[in-house]
Amino acid sequence: MDDFRLDGQTALVTGASRGIGLAIAEVFAAAGAAIVLLARDRRRLEEAAGRFAAGRVWTAALDLTQPEEAPGVFQRLTAETGGIDILVNNAGGILRGAAAELAAEDFRRLLDLNLTSAFFLSAAFARERIAAGKPGAIVNISSILGEIARPGVAAYAMTKAGLRQLTRALAVEWAPQGIRVNAVAPGFTRTDLTRSQWSDPGLEAAVRARTPLARWAEPQDIARAALFLASPAAAFITGQTLIVDGGLTAAMGGIP
Ligand SMILES: NC(=O)c1ccc[n+]([C@@H]2O[C@H](COP(=O)([O-])OP(=O)(O)OC[C@H]3O[C@@H](n4cnc5c(N)ncnc54)[C@H](OP(=O)(O)O)[C@@H]3O)[C@@H](O)[C@H]2O)c1
Repeated sequence: MDDFRLDGQTALVTGASRGIGLAIAEVFAAAGAAIVLLARDRRRLEEAAGRFAAGRVWTAALDLTQPEEAPGVFQRLTAETGGIDILVNNAGGILRGAAAELAAEDFRRLLDLNLTSAFFLSAAFARERIAAGKPGAIVNISSILGEIARPGVAAYAMTKAGLRQLTRALAVEWAPQGIRVNAVAPGFTRTDLTRSQWSDPGLEAAVRARTPLARWAEPQDIARAALFLASPAAAFITGQTLIVDGGLTAAMGGIP
């Protein structure tokens, strides 16, 4: 089972102060990795860092709606940690509302956070790995909304579909240098992002009713899939999106 471990590796996880990102960081640490936690809020980052063994965790406060700052921060973190072997592009936000009414500025910020920052962080990661002559793994966190659609989240769905194709394109481009690029597409997962949904009893039950495994995902469900894709166990897997949704996208929702 050693192939499922990350001993001797360092992983940078964006959006790691809570939710799915924090679960990924904890599961990776349990598998032996040192961790860099990145998000905006310094206080929450420090709180999250307290859950990890001293000397095995770093934090970075960065707003990924400013993607032009990401490469410089990545370079500094590489120097501080001695090298980052795994990048998890997890940070993301959602914009709910009618597509016809979206403000251009809100749309741009969402695109910057969900897609553009993942592109430029991945590029900074690949430059460093290639210069060092070392392999690496990238895991992007997309969404089932990159695969299927529902009303009111068009811009979000578009960014997540973009991540699927970014995953394929970078996988093909960097395979010769030993950099694997994969994605996990979560279904409905209990985090702050979806609090308004799972705290609404009707909606909470509707998701369970349409999900063959009849529950919401917990952040650890997503984190374990990310661990698999980042680990040597997935050495021959690249360019793929692994859907983790309890069967929701496999089913003909609601039709008996
Ligand atoms: N929850 C779901 O049902 C679900 C389903 C499918 C896909 N996903 C995807 O999974 C990923 C994680 O979602 P989650 O549910 O865990 O979200 P969450 O609970 O809202 O956590 C988001 C994390 O990202 C950080 N973040 C937010 N905006 C940021 C910014 N501008 N710059 C840097 N960091 C930022 C947050 O910290 P700060 O606020 O301090 O920055 C936090 O650590 C997202 O990409 C999301 O689209 C979630």
